[in-house]
Amino acid sequence: MAALPYIVGNWKMNGTRAMLNEARAIDRAAARFPKVQVAVAPPATLLYRTRDAVELIGVGGQDCHHKESGAFTGDISAPMLKDAGADFTLVGHSERREYHSESDADVKAKAEAALSAGLAVILCVGETESQRDAGDAEAVVGSQLEGSCPRTDGAVDKLSIAYEPVWAIGTGRVPSVEDVAAMHASIRARLVAIYGDAGADLRILYGGSVKAENAGELLAIPDVGGALVGGASLTAESFLAIVGAAA
Ligand code: G3H
Repeated sequence: MAALPYIVGNWKMNGTRAMLNEARAIDRAAARFPKVQVAVAPPATLLYRTRDAVELIGVGGQDCHHKESGAFTGDISAPMLKDAGADFTLVGHSERREYHSESDADVKAKAEAALSAGLAVILCVGETESQRDAGDAEAVVGSQLEGSCPRTDGAVDKLSIAYEPVWAIGTGRVPSVEDVAAMHASIRARLVAIYGDAGADLRILYGGSVKAENAGELLAIPDVGGALVGGASLTAESFLAIVGAAA
């Protein structure tokens, strides 16, 4: 049976307690969309409260450290996310790769730590504009997958991939339908090479300037199993319009 479309809101470094009202509104409306899996990834400061505020939707972290505990000021471990009520965590978001210099090996270690803490993982990959212009997009993303996909036993059962072209994040620009389809097919082939037959079932999300206006078209592309949404996830109204397009 095909998995339900998965629509995940990444709030990034946005939101104080007032955002809990948006989470509650998303959660109430989620009951109208039983054929869509909905989740949000609030900033860590809101994780506990978001968990308490919602019943139907998933709640996740945006990143985790690869160690369980220790002298790592400012970091948050996967068991801490789990303890705070997270169901999943993002790893390898391009903003982490760029602003925190995270390598594929770092991302792999984080993914494996998250899985071993019992969290599902959404692993992000994507090329920069210059890499796409050079014709290297599929090779870059393939190499990111090779280097950052977790290899622990059972990893494949709780893993999703999010394809997010860096140049499409927060810019209002999106790749063509053909380019998204080609990239998702390429990612699928790589996942099968890494995980064997199980790689055929992993969900591959698209992220990068997903809005109500383009969500229907993007979600209809073959092998697009959902969306990772940034800016448009910050109000219940704009996020739910995307959830509605997935229903
Ligand atoms: O994690 C979400 C992505 O970075 C997409 O962000 O929807 O604001 O372009 P965006």
